[in-house]
Amino acid sequence: MKDTSKPTRASRSVGKLLYVVHMFLFVSLGFVLGMASISKFPNMIYTPFVASLPFPTPPPPPPTPSPPRPPPLPATPLLPAPRNLGRMGLMDLLAPSGVIHNMTDEELFWRASMAPKGHRTPYHRVPKIAFLFLVRGELPLRPLWEKFFAGNDQELYSIYVHPDPSYTGSPPRDSVFYGRMIPSKETKWGHVSLVEAESRLLASALLDHSNERFVLLSEACIPVYNFSTVYAFLAGSATSFVDSYGNGDCRARYDRFFAERTNITIEHWRKGAQWFEMDRALALEVVGDEPYIQMFRDFCVGRWRCLTDEHYLPTLLNLLGWARNANRSLTYADWKRPQGMHPHTHDGAEVTEELLNRIREDGGNRCFYNGARAGICSLFARKFSPDTLQPLLRLAPKVMGFG
Ligand SMILES: *[C@@H]1O[C@H](CO)[C@@H](O)[C@H](O)[C@H]1NC(C)=O
Ligand SMILES: *[C@@H]1O[C@H](CO)[C@@H](O)[C@H](O)[C@H]1NC(C)=O
Ligand SMILES: *[C@@H]1O[C@H](CO)[C@@H](O)[C@H](O)[C@H]1NC(C)=O
Ligand SMILES: *[C@@H]1O[C@H](CO)[C@@H](O)[C@H](O)[C@H]1NC(C)=O
Repeated sequence: MKDTSKPTRASRSVGKLLYVVHMFLFVSLGFVLGMASISKFPNMIYTPFVASLPFPTPPPPPPTPSPPRPPPLPATPLLPAPRNLGRMGLMDLLAPSGVIHNMTDEELFWRASMAPKGHRTPYHRVPKIAFLFLVRGELPLRPLWEKFFAGNDQELYSIYVHPDPSYTGSPPRDSVFYGRMIPSKETKWGHVSLVEAESRLLASALLDHSNERFVLLSEACIPVYNFSTVYAFLAGSATSFVDSYGNGDCRARYDRFFAERTNITIEHWRKGAQWFEMDRALALEVVGDEPYIQMFRDFCVGRWRCLTDEHYLPTLLNLLGWARNANRSLTYADWKRPQGMHPHTHDGAEVTEELLNRIREDGGNRCFYNGARAGICSLFARKFSPDTLQPLLRLAPKVMGFG
């Protein structure tokens, strides 16, 4: 600008001055038009891969009833794809390709607690069952689980494993468990850290929008029905299965100290086995809960007989007024012969056709499913020691319908 307004020769020629003024107006107009078009299409700046779209943008194609399904999840966690290579599709936003991340718990739980506002799902959603394994390290009964999953569509289930952080082993590459270990932290029995590990598993599984049902298991758990029965039972259930009761020794465990410092009253207080099965709506509530888990952190930890893993979930459901719960677990445990504060552990010599059938039937037709008697009380059972593997593998085809 300074150059064009130099007075050296302009004073001698009015025509030259007019020329300069015209040039200035022309340049200014170009600038204004440029700014206007940029502010109208700001996407051109931030997302270079849409810049090649002709204007106006074509209307989005109407949703088709059954678009092609997303490719199956790769067995190994992959590095994220370089940003500009392809256009993002809906599926890229709905399921991460692996389970490894560097989020803090706070970041993970917040991200996982997000839920769509729209009720109509614009794609064909096949609900998956997420099997959440809370383990120390090794999975001694893994070969039985491999048989359980074998031959079933990988779009119907997903696996997440939370081992002790000190564990450095890995299942073999051809295993369905390979690459499914989530970033984990240390846990202590009866402690809030155990509930936090459960929430970590839930949150990791919630990141995949296909996961609709969430089952918590340990390395000592076994399936007692085949996959198709388990899938049909869970996918068709109107309730979650979180063990919850308020009688017996539950009330005796309510601490006056708790009453004085929180708004959780003895009427809210519940107890139950930690091995849950829940639907997505409830899982969202659990990872989204901030006040109540904090009360357990502050006032339950370290107190006699206050076991966060047995009280937190059923009490939370009661506080939320959650009616869609069967109030019982789907995981059988033998409490008739307790070992200390734990149920009986079955060893190899105990595993017979008769034992498995007894667990499957669980005393006859006494369990309700969607309001009617179902004949199935438990889909899973605990606790089974590592030496039960061979007899279980031998009996599975005949008694449990897989393998
Ligand atoms: C996690 O990874 C992302 C992307 O690589 C990086 O930007 C971020 O700083 C990392 N966060 C932490 C807490 O390490
Ligand atoms: C208890 O307090 C928390 C936070 O202080 C609040 O979010 C919650 O609604 C209260 N619950 C009841 C049952 O009053
Ligand atoms: C489970 O307990 C809750 C709360 O007490 C109740 O609303 C619900 O109806 C119970 N579920 C069944 C299946 O009885
Ligand atoms: C699973 O078990 C049920 C009986 O519990 C049986 O009817 C069904 O055929 C089995 N499914 C497969 C795929 O073997």
